[in-house]
This record gives sequence, C-alpha cells and structure tokens, in this order.
Amino acid sequence: VNDPVYDAALEAVRSRLGKKSAEHCRRVAETAAGLAIIYGVDVRSAKLAGLLHDWDRELPAPELLGRALEAGITISDADAARPKLLHARTAAASLSAAFPGIDDDVVQAVARHTIGAVDMSRLDMVIYLADMLEPARDYPGVEELRAQVGSASLSELFALGYRESMRHLVDARKRIHPETVAVWNVWVAGDAHE
Ligand SMILES: [Fe+2]
Ligand SMILES: [Fe+2]
Repeated sequence: VNDPVYDAALEAVRSRLGKKSAEHCRRVAETAAGLAIIYGVDVRSAKLAGLLHDWDRELPAPELLGRALEAGITISDADAARPKLLHARTAAASLSAAFPGIDDDVVQAVARHTIGAVDMSRLDMVIYLADMLEPARDYPGVEELRAQVGSASLSELFALGYRESMRHLVDARKRIHPETVAVWNVWVAGDAHE
C-alpha cells in the first residue's frame, strides 16, 4: 500500500540515522504493522510510530539532556544516570515540528517505547513490543516471547515483554527508573488485569 507520509518519514530516518539504526527502525515498523494486524490496531499509525521511534537514538548524552531541558521534560536521577533513556521523550517532543500533522497517538507511542507507562494504549504496547521483537533481536527469552504473539492478549504480551526488560535491568545491575517500577506494579504485578 502506497503511503506518502511513511515514504517521506523513511527518507528522513535514512538521512538522520546511520544505516544500522535506520534498518532497525524499518524492521520495527514492519514488526509493528504485523502486530497491529494481529491485535486490531491501526496499521498506518503502527508503521509510522515504529519507523520513527528511535528518531533521537543517536544523539549524544549532553545533547539529549539539553533537548530534554528545552522541552520541559522532567529529568529524574535515573534519567541523569542513563541519559539514553531520554531519546524516546525528546524524539516525541520534536516529531510534531519535524512532521506537521503527525497524530498525537503516534507521538505518544514514540515517547513510551523505552519505559512504557501506567496507562499504555494498544498502539503504545504494539510499538514497545515491536522494538523488542523485530527479527534482528536476539536475547534469552526472545523466542518464548515471539511464540506468544497471537495467542497471548496484547496486554499479556506486553506484561511478558516488560518482565524481560526488567529482568535484563536487574541482571545487568542497571539503575531502574522509578516510572518502570510504577509500570511494573500496574501491568506485571497484575493490578491492570484484576
Ligand atoms: Fe529506542
Ligand atoms: Fe529501537
């Protein structure tokens, strides 16, 4: 299906990011489209959000911190310790200017692809998961997660994916963002399912 908005965004991603990142973005877009079809989410939005999710991924830490300040994003201790986490929120802050007319739900899905949120939309979950499941991803547990696609509900799949991310943070002895704990408590500890 021809989509001039997607094509223009792909062009922009290719000139902004290195080849490796740009290819990752394209794979996330395709994976997001597949998940969107399976879970009844808008496919155009999923493709576009997947394509643009790492718009700021290659910015160096000082630049990310500067942009976050400029955009009025609250920088927690966890963000200061791991400034790369900010790339999702800084990208979201600049996408509306870079792509006039872009849907707010697409921008929100970009903003939430690293830490998630306590009130994830279905599109937010699709993008979070597409980033974890794109074909080049290889980590312990990825096959088990892929095997659940289509049989687990979208929120259950998100809970499983979030558990993997959390496990990785703990194993790598990384600092955990306070919002991550809030998301964990709502989605993974089961509060959202009761
Ligand atoms: Fe990212
Ligand atoms: Fe990514």
